[in-house]
Amino acid sequence: MRIKDKKRFIIACGGLAAILILIIVVLTISFWNRNESQAEADSKKNTQTTATAKETDTAANTQTAAAGQSTQTETKEEIKTTTTENAAGVDSVITLVNKNHSMSANYVPSDLVTVDLPSTRDTQLRSIAAEGLTKLFKAAEGAGLELYCCSGYRSYETQSELYTWNVETYGVDGAELVSARPGMSEHQLGLAMDVTSASVGFDLLESFGTTAEGQFINENAHKYGFIVRYPQGKTDITGYAYEPWHLRYLGVDVATAIYNSGKTMEEYYSTN
Ligand code: DAL
Ligand code: ZN
Repeated sequence: MRIKDKKRFIIACGGLAAILILIIVVLTISFWNRNESQAEADSKKNTQTTATAKETDTAANTQTAAAGQSTQTETKEEIKTTTTENAAGVDSVITLVNKNHSMSANYVPSDLVTVDLPSTRDTQLRSIAAEGLTKLFKAAEGAGLELYCCSGYRSYETQSELYTWNVETYGVDGAELVSARPGMSEHQLGLAMDVTSASVGFDLLESFGTTAEGQFINENAHKYGFIVRYPQGKTDITGYAYEPWHLRYLGVDVATAIYNSGKTMEEYYSTN
């Protein structure tokens, strides 16, 4: 090979080698970048998966907690108050409803049953409360007393009509002492029953508290899951006048704990 050709050959080989090195470098960088992007994408995907799982867990836990509150092993700490934002709590048998804690106008318990007990009219309760009331009425019967149901579940609309009637009859201040505003009555929960007896002419009177039937209820309702919700002398706390006839179902454990404490539901749960 001539010197000139040899030089050309060496330059060509050098150029080829440089091109090859360049290609290798470019390929290596691109491969490296690709791996990095993939790792980043994987990392983002994992983060999203974790976040979704957390949300799901939270929702599941909320539902479990709400379901747990429907049992009779409910504890003081588990109380749920009702607000339109806290619809999950409304089905709990220990839901607090009062002048400060309302429920949605749309709330209707899903397990209402017509109460199969002596009554002044057909009336309904949630099934678990109806079961407790049946036991209470049986116990009263065993003591030679006859109780009557008067008013159980009331829809938002019915409560609204009642409240309006009370305002027209007694004025707002008078009505506020005896009637809950719509959305604020335990009757809409399907967990309250007004009971009466022949001894008070099947009416709802304060004097019911001094009758044998009223006293039996006062001393025994908790054993079957009920409390007298608006006791005498507690108007400043409950907001309502004494109602010896208004029974609220809470389950045996909570009703018994509240009865033994001598407190109202508001005092027991330290809330208003
Ligand atoms: N009488 C009770 C407070 C009610 O209306 O629910
Ligand atoms: Zn009532």
